[in-house]
Amino acid sequence: MIIAIDGTLASGKGTIARRLADIYGLPHLDTGLLYRAVGMQALDQDIALDNATKLAAAAGTIKAETLNRPELRSPQAAEAASKVAVIPAVRDALFQLQRSFAQQPGGAILDGRDIGSVICPDADIKLWIDAAIEVRARRRMLDFADQGNSVGLPTMIAGLEDRDKRDRNRSQAPMVKAADAILIDTSSLSIDAAVDKARSIIERKFPAKP
Ligand code: DC
Repeated sequence: MIIAIDGTLASGKGTIARRLADIYGLPHLDTGLLYRAVGMQALDQDIALDNATKLAAAAGTIKAETLNRPELRSPQAAEAASKVAVIPAVRDALFQLQRSFAQQPGGAILDGRDIGSVICPDADIKLWIDAAIEVRARRRMLDFADQGNSVGLPTMIAGLEDRDKRDRNRSQAPMVKAADAILIDTSSLSIDAAVDKARSIIERKFPAKP
């Protein structure tokens, strides 16, 4: 079973994906980390964030097993990721790794922006996770606070809008809800309630074994 989970930043898609991976015993790939890893390599090696050739070469060295660096969770990595993710050669260089991960025997869960539309158009289940911008901004502020950073609500909303816009408007594989993806709006849902919703969508198609 391949489960594709896409959606906006801070919509809860990553948490939902991790919880589902636990419940169904499936391997999980947070594909945002791939772009973050390319962004961090660019920052570490002083590669300009629009140097397609060098960034594609950097992307070619990324492995799913090396995505545990805590720095990948930093705001700097997120910002760099969103810039390198607009480069078609970077996306091409990361395509096969994601496809191979999805196609392992038994299936997998991938979360990102283009999983249902480009990486796994054949996924068994496609979910699109979203929430109101203010809710997402407040969640992000809590994440930042956990990392010792403080950002005001208007600044956070502006930052999210900026990144959403870049993700939606890039020429290749823009962030888009696949036509056959099912929306879960988490604005007023707890994580448990959002996971329950996702489970009921999955188990409608693949009834749980008694
Ligand atoms: O989900 P995230 O914040 O870790 O993603 C970091 C950036 O990578 C984000 O700006 C969008 C981009 N991304 C993408 O273009 N395609 C994906 N499948 C996943 C992330």
